[in-house]
Amino acid sequence: MKITSNNEDKRYMRYALNLAKRNLGNTGKNPSVGCVIVSKEKKIISAASTGLNGSPHAEKIAIEKSCADIEGATVYVTLEPCNHSGENPPCAELLVKEKISRVVISQKDDNPLVDGKGIKYLKDSDVIVDTGVLEEEANLINGGFLNRVKNGKPNINIKIASSADGKTALRDGKSKWITNDLSRNYGHRLRSTHDAILVGINTVLSDNPMLNCRLEGLQNRSPCRIILDTTLRIPEDSKIIKTAKEFNTIIFTNLNASRKKIKKLERLNVKVLRVSQLEDSYLNIDEILLEIGKAGFNNLLIEGGHTIITSFLSSEKVKLIYWFSSDKIIGGDGLSSIGNLNLQNIKEGPNLKLIEIINLNNNYLKTYEVLK
Ligand SMILES: NC(=O)c1ccc[n+]([C@@H]2O[C@H](COP(=O)([O-])OP(=O)(O)OC[C@H]3O[C@@H](n4cnc5c(N)ncnc54)[C@H](OP(=O)(O)O)[C@@H]3O)[C@@H](O)[C@H]2O)c1
Repeated sequence: MKITSNNEDKRYMRYALNLAKRNLGNTGKNPSVGCVIVSKEKKIISAASTGLNGSPHAEKIAIEKSCADIEGATVYVTLEPCNHSGENPPCAELLVKEKISRVVISQKDDNPLVDGKGIKYLKDSDVIVDTGVLEEEANLINGGFLNRVKNGKPNINIKIASSADGKTALRDGKSKWITNDLSRNYGHRLRSTHDAILVGINTVLSDNPMLNCRLEGLQNRSPCRIILDTTLRIPEDSKIIKTAKEFNTIIFTNLNASRKKIKKLERLNVKVLRVSQLEDSYLNIDEILLEIGKAGFNNLLIEGGHTIITSFLSSEKVKLIYWFSSDKIIGGDGLSSIGNLNLQNIKEGPNLKLIEIINLNNNYLKTYEVLK
């Protein structure tokens, strides 16, 4: 049954959500879940996030590392506990075995393998279950996983780094450095919270980026790098190819791409996937996203350039836009962050809800939810 949560429930759930955020982008195919255990005496006796690569589940870790007796405790968990055995034992059974008296769940798991069965098992075993506490916030964390298991596609987030007047590069394509160090570091943190990061081939040709996470302490949390490159123009001496042994790399190309080039790239540790090409246009984004979903990636970060961003914004449901905007003005001859959307009417365009704004030393990161 859905209840109106009290402040205490919200406080503990917020802690669990922060724990879930910690390992986002680093739990493989599994969702990143947070779990907090509160004793009968109202003391936090354990807290955990899903393990790296998705195992063990947060509930199991929290139970095992509890510093006091958990019988009769309340468990706060950001996603419905599972009740099926996969690589991990069923968490709902574990909670019952440990004689937990109440489980507070932020969001129900629509994964067909769970879909209310965890909640039912708990209730049938006389555990009090309350759901829906801070559900909207939980959906920002669980949404990628839930979207992939339901629709086969990851959540799509876009990152833009622009001048104050919305330009991403000078007329000749130079974009180093529009934003400041702090923004760029934050951009690296964003990479670490996504399973994969995607750019168009022109960005590779003009910037020769590494697209990894270089923040101290998070170097082992780089996402898979994905490049859209219809005719395999990527140079073998680009940083992406030269570091493909170290960081997972996928290139999407078209069905007619040269077999010889593909073989060569595969020898250099690049995975090459072929998809159809829309007539007189670009690679088929729908097919690309289904392949990305098949690879088990829950959250995809689109990093540009503006041709790619425009393609995704106009053809797919984008979840969030992380927009870094700097203290520089580039002017009308600079490259726009977003290309032509060919709107006939202002109402037709994407509609944004500002959910967070962070001051990064006179640069600003605005996080928008894309409403349509
Ligand atoms: N400030 C920032 O945040 C930022 C971030 C990234 C880039 N940039 C700047 O942006 C510039 C590059 O942007 P860009 O717009 O020229 O190119 P881009 O978006 O990096 O790449 C576009 C290219 O990707 C390929 N592609 C394949 N499938 C596609 C699809 N479905 N949709 C769109 N493109 C597809 C196409 O080339 P093929 O037909 O050859 O496959 C297309 O021309 C550079 O100057 C770079 O410095 C700025």
